[in-house]
Amino acid sequence: MRKTRSRITVNERNGGFRIDTAHTTYIMTIKDGLYLGHFYYGGRLPEEDGMSYKEAFAPSMSPVETKREMVIFQDGFQFEYPGWGTGDSREGAIRAKDPLGTTRVNLLYQAYRISSSKALIPGLPSTFSSEGEGEMLEIDLKDPDTGLLVTLRYSPWEECDVIARSVVVRNESKDTFDLEKVLSLVLDMPGKDMSGRPFELMTFQGTWAREFTRDVRGIGYGITGVSSVCGKTGSRCQSFLGLVSPGITQNSGEVYGIQLLYSGNFRSAVEKTPYDDIRVSTGIHPEGFSWKLAPGEVFYAPEAVMTYSDQGLGRMSRNFHDLYRKHLIRGKYRNARRPILINNWEATYFDFDTDKLLAIAGKANECGIEMLVVDDGWFGKRNDDNTSLGDWTVNEEKLPGGLRRLGTELKKMGMKFGLWVEPEMVSPDSDLFRAHPDWAIAIPGREPALSRNQLVLDISREDVRDYLVGVLTKVFEEAGVDYVKWDMNRHLSDLYSAALPAERQGELLHRFVLGVYDLQERILTAFPDLLLENCSSGGSRFDPGMLYYSPQIWTSDDTDAYERIRIQEGAATLYPLSSMGAHVSICPNHVTGRTVPFMTRGHVALAGTFGYELDITAIPEEEHRMIRRQVELFHKYNDLVREGDYYRMDSVRDNGFLDCYGVVSKDRSEMLLTVIFVMNRPCTPNRRIHIRGLDPEKKYRVSLISDSTEKEPANDSAEEPVNDSEPVCIAHGATLGRSGLLISCRYGDFQSLLFHITEVNE
Ligand code: DGJ
Repeated sequence: MRKTRSRITVNERNGGFRIDTAHTTYIMTIKDGLYLGHFYYGGRLPEEDGMSYKEAFAPSMSPVETKREMVIFQDGFQFEYPGWGTGDSREGAIRAKDPLGTTRVNLLYQAYRISSSKALIPGLPSTFSSEGEGEMLEIDLKDPDTGLLVTLRYSPWEECDVIARSVVVRNESKDTFDLEKVLSLVLDMPGKDMSGRPFELMTFQGTWAREFTRDVRGIGYGITGVSSVCGKTGSRCQSFLGLVSPGITQNSGEVYGIQLLYSGNFRSAVEKTPYDDIRVSTGIHPEGFSWKLAPGEVFYAPEAVMTYSDQGLGRMSRNFHDLYRKHLIRGKYRNARRPILINNWEATYFDFDTDKLLAIAGKANECGIEMLVVDDGWFGKRNDDNTSLGDWTVNEEKLPGGLRRLGTELKKMGMKFGLWVEPEMVSPDSDLFRAHPDWAIAIPGREPALSRNQLVLDISREDVRDYLVGVLTKVFEEAGVDYVKWDMNRHLSDLYSAALPAERQGELLHRFVLGVYDLQERILTAFPDLLLENCSSGGSRFDPGMLYYSPQIWTSDDTDAYERIRIQEGAATLYPLSSMGAHVSICPNHVTGRTVPFMTRGHVALAGTFGYELDITAIPEEEHRMIRRQVELFHKYNDLVREGDYYRMDSVRDNGFLDCYGVVSKDRSEMLLTVIFVMNRPCTPNRRIHIRGLDPEKKYRVSLISDSTEKEPANDSAEEPVNDSEPVCIAHGATLGRSGLLISCRYGDFQSLLFHITEVNE
């Protein structure tokens, strides 16, 4: 056995590969020198056992031993990356039409390589190594009959317990292929956990204003899963699949979590076989997809990441958070505090002018808010959502002197300037559409479906992208913007690109996604200090692919704090708190009509990027004081929220009345704990909260730092710093975990408390 690197081990004698992370092991073996099989993925195995196990791995005789039952072998073997049309009746990972018109792909092991750095994927987001760590195992599989070469790539992120996988397809033949399907990850595994209980499937469903709703269901025979065919990720579901032990909790049970780093049509599925095994897969949705691969050409499938935890969902979430914060999010703001913003959307909608915006900015500035974001409506003739997308020239009637003047006035106040754009869209009523009708995605001679009265620009085209980069660069330079909110408010339909020949129309959807990535990459290259926030009708493109370009994404248009508790719990299961756009908005809430106390709205938004979305000139002075207080809390605790480990203690989704989560620093010296009394539950005098994530050996002081039921101080609280003077209790982490913190439930609906828990050094 040869140990090449600390995390990737190759058994050259038997033919096999082992990948280790801090707490997991992944093993592949090669059957009879030909078939790459998946053998094991789960908790870390002792090193000396290595791959000697392999001998037991003989579900049926391989075709090398007898050709009599090739189909039985194909049907039962745990393939690492199954071909198609070879006798395996489960779902294949790849399908390619060759010149004969057949689609069979028979993948046999060929070679492997190990490199000391992880490759990026051209044109696509991918995890990367920031501090020299990172390595990559590549395994070549080849169809000897057609010359199609498939390279499987594996990169362990040891400290995050994540393995990143991707697939490269190379045409080594003399003929052109039509790729009809190329999945990014397949995992053939037992359908039960270590205790013998059948895995259940966890996914996140949703729609506009109801994103990230958790769903758990049993896995029946056949294929089940989640998918998007709307040209973007969509709010209907995340690409995430969780294979979970029944009754999984935050800190117990097994979970395999898989996500695709992609922002277009995807399909993530689980297939349960008659043998009670399961085949898990994720990748670009094959529906409507095809890609011409000429001799010598290469196709890169998006990266997928997978993690395993035998200590419940909490560890899975923290693994993903660490991965995304350390190996996916880039740029100046990756580890930095983001400016507290105020966005004028819910304050004014389309009805604003420079005076109104400066009035909002002025009051916001007095309260400690750091940036004004001008949302939809600053350009063309955009006084409602029926017109002008594509005409990215300022509306001087609303903003005399243009964005430059507004930007200058803001800078004078010491405020940063943020701007909304929706570059991928065009209104039929726009100069851009009148000049270039063929730039919109629509089928010639057929009426396209409008949505919000707009069409999608064909940004698969380089000329369209060049045009957009040109106009956006001009606007951003002129305005001197510090931040951009990049919106995208409709699905793709009526698919046709005037720039593609008939036989390549199936490439449009994937080319569109590559176009989005290219546009954002070029803008970020031109403006390296820009803070980009992606958005799509709320959280309709909240996916790990977009996180490669923007460190934060607008989580939902539903800013009702009660709804946000659930939405943010769902989002935080997969994404770091630092990526979740969260604002305090006006009540009654514009989406739900609900009223939640102002301080609770702040406590909930403090779990995200933090900002405001209300007319600050029209709220009472008492609320201005509360804003100052919230701003102060943000400055004191945002480093912890952004960089710490997230622990969920209680969920209103489970218990119906109380929500509780905390963020603990990596060195376990402090925690910010949020408790929200969602519903006043009769005859529930108190609730015991078992605080997880603290060091059991350390002694902590628990202080109540903000209580939504208390009036905030009448004087300017900037002079009265938030302090931890009154400890609620002092106890060891072990005690706070086991005995817990007893919280009185005397509070009314939607009241909330923030506790700061700090290590006591005696
Ligand atoms: C949808 C976004 O989610 C909102 O925040 C807002 O920017 C509107 N679009 C503007 O049209």
